[in-house]
Amino acid sequence: MTDTTPGGLENLLSEDRRFPPSSEFAAQANVHRDAYAWADADRPAFWAEQARDLLDWTTPFHEVLDWSGAPVARWFADGRLNAAYNAVDRHVEAGRGDRVALHFEGEGGDTRTITYADLQREVSKAANALAALGVETGDRVAIYLPLIPEAVFTMLACARIGAPHSVVFGGFSAEALYSRIVDAEAKLVVTADGGFRRGAASALKPAVDEALAKGESPVEHVLVVRRTGQDVAWTEGRDVWWSDTVDTASDEHTPVAVDAEHPLFILYTSGTTGKPKGIFHTTGGYLTQAAYTHKAVFDLKAETDVYWCTADIGWITGHTYVVYGPLVNGATQVIYEGTPDTPHRGRWWEIIEKYKVSILYTAPTAIRTCMKWGEEIPSKFDLSSLRVLGSVGEPINPEAWVWYRRVIGGDRTPIVDTWWQTETGAIMISPLPGVTTTKPGSAQVPLPGIAATVVDDDAHPVPDGSGGYLVVTEPWPSMLRGIWGDQERYADTYWSRFKDLYFAGDGAKKDDDGDIWLLGRVDDVMNVSGHRLSTTEIESALVSHPWVAEAAVVGATDETTGQAVVAFVILRGDAGGGEQSADEVQTTLRNHVAKEIGPIAKPRQILVVAELPKTRSGKIMRRLLRDVAEHRQVGDATTLADASVMDLIAQGLSAPGAKQED
Ligand code: WT7
Repeated sequence: MTDTTPGGLENLLSEDRRFPPSSEFAAQANVHRDAYAWADADRPAFWAEQARDLLDWTTPFHEVLDWSGAPVARWFADGRLNAAYNAVDRHVEAGRGDRVALHFEGEGGDTRTITYADLQREVSKAANALAALGVETGDRVAIYLPLIPEAVFTMLACARIGAPHSVVFGGFSAEALYSRIVDAEAKLVVTADGGFRRGAASALKPAVDEALAKGESPVEHVLVVRRTGQDVAWTEGRDVWWSDTVDTASDEHTPVAVDAEHPLFILYTSGTTGKPKGIFHTTGGYLTQAAYTHKAVFDLKAETDVYWCTADIGWITGHTYVVYGPLVNGATQVIYEGTPDTPHRGRWWEIIEKYKVSILYTAPTAIRTCMKWGEEIPSKFDLSSLRVLGSVGEPINPEAWVWYRRVIGGDRTPIVDTWWQTETGAIMISPLPGVTTTKPGSAQVPLPGIAATVVDDDAHPVPDGSGGYLVVTEPWPSMLRGIWGDQERYADTYWSRFKDLYFAGDGAKKDDDGDIWLLGRVDDVMNVSGHRLSTTEIESALVSHPWVAEAAVVGATDETTGQAVVAFVILRGDAGGGEQSADEVQTTLRNHVAKEIGPIAKPRQILVVAELPKTRSGKIMRRLLRDVAEHRQVGDATTLADASVMDLIAQGLSAPGAKQED
């Protein structure tokens, strides 16, 4: 356990600052302290009440939880509903069609205002177009789009016909896109010519073309949104423009009611092997917890709040807290296409001032980046509309937490540090604003209706003041229902480490009050800027290059991104490896990883070594490499097969060549 705890987090537990809720905030909060006891008394009944309260069902459910097929849960299984109807139509029917659903802000400053009535028309047109392109209930649709309104329309159009979507983050490569298309057997890909990023048009369609040229694929059509106007290659018969098909379609469409357990989407995420996992979520339980947590954790007042979650739709945060949670709750939100520093480093704060954003949900990496840029930048803008701040994706260090509250929140706003995963579908552990006295750096308590704890190697809950592994002890509505096409891997990955407990893969500690502090991953998964990357996946990308004989990848602590990818490689002399300069090796291999997986997986550093530290059984000792990468004294190396290896590595590293950029 200590073996894998990322450096620098141990000092978390000496953090003793406390932020009690103000009485004004507490008085108006959506959730009260008694929710915990109420939910504990009968967890399924608590969730059934949320499901009835927050969603409209075409067929009301009578069954609540069926856990007889564990570890696959069924929630509200005899009920039927439609996700898009819940996110859009019912708000229009209730007379709220004029409420703004989306304030879209393009990177270049172009804007669109989309009301719920507009959304209903756009989603209906898209659903009709998808149906005309052959998409039926149950078919899968791959979405590879920038964060533009069409991305939201497309996800909801899929939900409207009961066709599970599989959104692939636009930063993933053609190779990564292809494997996801094939695994999900997607019939249609929805993409754009490109999107605007860092002040330039960044192409997307070529990656789709390249992906589909890789081999057999189930794809019949590619639907293309024109966003940047750049030139695109065109395959007649396969490719169709959004403007020719969606814009011309009828704006009336009847949502298809599906079973509560009908799959809503698949989202691929990295695991401990080279093959990403297609995490799939179903409809009724997922929407229930998405809506409940969005309302409870952010204290959402749909009539008055302006909410902004900065995540891309390519990640689970974008699914649950850009699309489904806020829209099911009828919220008004901002979506922004670009980066925080384009065209200037005050862009986010300018957007908050412009739209009077009241709830902001972002990642610690972004906060640390803004800290680095200096507080004079946000202090030039009026941020007084903010009333709740959220953090997600990785542990937030107390310094960043306190800065976030003081500089962005005017020393006034509660901060919710929310722990959850692609697999959990929605927030699991978080303070409740107006209820919890917060502690900088801690996610603190499982939400009402959620049962989670920290256990030791033998699955016994640890006493307060001790550390171990985070587990969830009871099924929850938005839990994954499995790994697409591989239920055995689902059971193995999450349910075999501890009997009858969901193993999250995170290390955690309980403090003396029993509050939970997350300490990072305990498996071969890294967290870079809140994005999940697999060490094994990057290692196999590296060894697929002819120069590389062997590779070992570790996540090294990084001041801004939380962790950074550091690779150690042994070159193959016989394949031309070893004749290049260290710089050339770095550049070539970093680009190779970008091509195989995507720019987000590029190692920060690639170190050429003569040997890798291995145990006698041949297992790479990543712990020692992490010590090297973090410039620490190398720890206990007595189990190494060859004890001189670490000296060799250390000598090699004093040579120049280690480069650090993007
Ligand atoms: C992993 C899940 C949840 C959406 C974004 C990431 C880490 C997430 C926190 C937090 C400490 C956190 C965990 C988790 N993580 N939130 N508040 N404090 N760590 O989703 O890609 O599925 O990654 O992110 O390690 O297991 P994901």
